Amino acid sequence: MIAVKQLSKRYGPVVAIDDVSFTVDKGEILAFLGPNGAGKTTTMRILTCFMPATSGTATIAGFDIFEEPMAVKRRIGYLPESPPLYPEMTVEEYLVFVAKIKGLPRAAIQPGLKGAIEKCGLGEVSRRLIGNLSKGYRQRVGLAQALIHNPDVLILDEPTVGLDPRQIIEIRELIKGLAGDHTIILSTHILPEATAVCQKVVIISRGRIVAVDSQEKLSSRVRKSEKISLRIRRGDAASLEKIKAVAGVLQVSPQASEEDEVAYIVESNLGQDIREHLSKTVVEHGMGLLEMKPLVLSLEEVFLQLTTEEKMPESQQQTVKDAS
Ligand SMILES: Nc1ncnc2c1ncn2[C@@H]1O[C@H](COP(=O)(O)OP(=O)(O)OP(=O)(O)O)[C@@H](O)[C@H]1O
Ligand SMILES: [Mg+2]
Repeated sequence: MIAVKQLSKRYGPVVAIDDVSFTVDKGEILAFLGPNGAGKTTTMRILTCFMPATSGTATIAGFDIFEEPMAVKRRIGYLPESPPLYPEMTVEEYLVFVAKIKGLPRAAIQPGLKGAIEKCGLGEVSRRLIGNLSKGYRQRVGLAQALIHNPDVLILDEPTVGLDPRQIIEIRELIKGLAGDHTIILSTHILPEATAVCQKVVIISRGRIVAVDSQEKLSSRVRKSEKISLRIRRGDAASLEKIKAVAGVLQVSPQASEEDEVAYIVESNLGQDIREHLSKTVVEHGMGLLEMKPLVLSLEEVFLQLTTEEKMPESQQQTVKDAS
């Protein structure tokens, strides 16, 4: 549905995005995850035909964003960082106004309005002034204006920023419900948001993509060893030695634990499953197995590792460029 190929954008000497490529399948939600200034908004503005790229290309529903911008715009709904809302209009007036600007045929306006109000849960406030709505509801109006022409693709720039925790959950649920019917790209600098809402994550740091993957794949990419969290009822120095002696175990680190139990992190080589041997040892020596589970890196750790690893090659590249 969306294919981005080697997009780059320079503002004078500032490289905002550099060689950005990724794809999004129909009905999928993709998170564009990166810290401030990473180039998220820049990429989204280019995809929505608000500004040209310096080089590269992208297609949306098969249409080239530079060659057929009108066809692309018809298929995209965009929620910018600060949605252009008019506080003195009612929700309904505003949405009709947007529908007209977007050139919806007269007969399509009412159905579009009804659909957007329904999808965004705005029924109860449709006659209220936008200026009197809570921030969460204003964000819903922002989403509704992006949806009014029933576009195939939704591009949402930090849709939950500035909302309270309850509103964040509501908006995330709303966005999840829109996937399937719509293909969605959302940007965020909040890691749990990417995992809570999206199937695919593109991590961008200082204009460059440092990883594109599902969350599980991202985790395994930076994992150097398998880790198992083990909790037992009775553990002493002798049991620690027995666990260390299990075939394949590289390292055992005792963890803070409750009064009547002992916790360890047991590490083995990547790709080696020691659970069977480990559980056998624990049971045979009467340690009282309480819990044994593989540990997967949180996206936050992955993000930190990937973006910090990126610093080295980038600074090296810079020196190479400067020297040439
Ligand atoms: N109009 C502009 N002129 C010059 N530089 C710009 C312009 N717009 C953005 N930049 C620069 O491009 C880079 C990427 O900015 P962008 O707004 O795309 O980042 P972002 O990932 O959306 O960040 P944030 O999380 O803060 O919204 C930044 O270094 C920014 O300073
Ligand atoms: Mg931004």
